[in-house]
Amino acid sequence: MSELNNIALKIIGNGKGILAADESTGTMTKRLEGVGVESNSENRLLFRETLFTSDGMKDYIGGVILYDETIKQLNSSGKKIPKLIIDSDTVPGIKVDTGAKTLANSPEEKITEGLDGLRERLKEYYKLGARFTKWRAVYVISKIYPSKLSINSNAHALARYAALAQESGMVPIVEPEVLMDGNHSAEVCLEKTTEVIKKCFDELIKNKIDLSGTILKPNMILPGSNSDQKISSKDIAELTLKCLVDSVPKEVPGIAFLSGGQSDIEATKNLDEINKKNNTRFIMSFSYGRALQQSSLKYWSKNIKDISGTQKVFNHRAKMCSLAATGKWSEQIEKK
Ligand code: 13P
Repeated sequence: MSELNNIALKIIGNGKGILAADESTGTMTKRLEGVGVESNSENRLLFRETLFTSDGMKDYIGGVILYDETIKQLNSSGKKIPKLIIDSDTVPGIKVDTGAKTLANSPEEKITEGLDGLRERLKEYYKLGARFTKWRAVYVISKIYPSKLSINSNAHALARYAALAQESGMVPIVEPEVLMDGNHSAEVCLEKTTEVIKKCFDELIKNKIDLSGTILKPNMILPGSNSDQKISSKDIAELTLKCLVDSVPKEVPGIAFLSGGQSDIEATKNLDEINKKNNTRFIMSFSYGRALQQSSLKYWSKNIKDISGTQKVFNHRAKMCSLAATGKWSEQIEKK
């Protein structure tokens, strides 16, 4: 097995998943101000450090995705943040795209940027301790979108990014996120997401990516957030598995879903159903931002000095996600 495959398995094997703590400063400011906390570099670090030093890290979190600001910060006792993460036997990762910008000639869609100078930035992140990377492409659904232009150009950028990440000795997380916005049905989400993921793998293969050292980070198959469609977790799991079986080459070791606007309980329950039904050889885990952090952020914002109380809330959420990653979660365990 390749070294990259070993890293991928360490991140999402054994019921572990990923804590996506790579919000850009703009997004983190929205999250902090949303709970009435001033967004400055000290507060951003304090909240993140609180999570990174939780007991739950060791048992439930195999990788943490950092943002450029955080990977270069020192904690309150002068320790480098990647070192703090490695001390919990967790792998530090880094978001390396520079954001989704307006796609020329299709202004309602986005293309993710960040390829210029990427090779040099990757070298620097590797030296700082990162062993995996993330690049997120976003797609909208409407009657005419996602366009072929958006599907093709984002897949091409994802593949060029993944090639450079592997060249630097790091596992690429390939994240094609089909957004939940809109009133489309789950069946339309299935069709569009399958098309998007298939095109990503076409490009990854053309770019000679080692698929065994790659993690896919997709959305689950859900109705649009403005749709009236009612759908059970069982149906979400079935459609999501169908999409992945149809679009992901068997060499890929695993899949780590984003939560993408689902509540923390929804994201946990749906992942659990996926694993209860999973008869593929793919690991099905999580790479959650909001679904892992929401509850602890809310608690922390009201009890900013209560580090252990905040960690207790985070530990519970991480444990529930980890149980879901092996199909062992239940509503009774959730309430315990
Ligand atoms: P959410 O789980 O909040 O969607 O964030 C995951 C992520 O990293 C998006 O890029």
